[in-house]
Amino acid sequence: MNDDYYFDIKKKRPEEIYKNVLDYFSGERLENYANSKNIQRIQLKITKRAFELMQLQKKEALILDAGCGPGFASFYIKHIGYNVVAFDIIKDFLSYFDINDLNPLVADMTALPFKPNSFDGIISISALQWIYRDTKNKEMTKLFVDLILSFYKVLKFGSKAIFQFYPKNEIILEHMKNIINSNSNFKGGFIIDNPNNPKKRKIFLILEK
Ligand SMILES: C[S@@+](CC[C@H](N)C(=O)[O-])C[C@H]1O[C@@H](n2cnc3c(N)ncnc32)[C@H](O)[C@@H]1O
Repeated sequence: MNDDYYFDIKKKRPEEIYKNVLDYFSGERLENYANSKNIQRIQLKITKRAFELMQLQKKEALILDAGCGPGFASFYIKHIGYNVVAFDIIKDFLSYFDINDLNPLVADMTALPFKPNSFDGIISISALQWIYRDTKNKEMTKLFVDLILSFYKVLKFGSKAIFQFYPKNEIILEHMKNIINSNSNFKGGFIIDNPNNPKKRKIFLILEK
């Protein structure tokens, strides 16, 4: 893990204001997110980078899009020729999918409803901060442990999970690293693109089973 960075975001993020993601993404806000070409463009760029970090060697692979929202990442994964399973905790997001042969599921990242060793890769774009953001919150810590165990179970050996997310500071990253190391055999760490540019900074967690 790279330790040569420092960040501490002062501005309150949505997940600090809304305890439950279902209260934040609803009604007009959900519709605006799902229909925004600008957000689609940003999420696509992040997905491409996440895929680069996955370094998938296989030509045929089954990829899980965890916290898929309206499906921006799934669309790209399908487009480049892989099979995708997509899920989100918010049912209303899933009706925006316009990929015919893709049937997204309602599911929770902390309790994945899939068989062990099912996926050649997992991608999760801009969702993890909703699950773990407060190092003092025991319930949140437990959910993050559940997520790690669940992701470990459904990944095939030698496969990777790539998360892009928005942590508030590097203390959270340290806690995450300790939780992952003490609860799983995942290898990996964080990669931070543009660490010194707050507007362009993108944080990825890479976990390999
Ligand atoms: C900012 S959106 C990103 C959606 C999509 N990945 C994208 O790139 O556009 C965050 C998503 O995480 C989902 N999410 C948050 N907590 C979740 C959980 N426990 N299980 C599944 N999805 C969750 C939300 O419902 C929301 O769709």
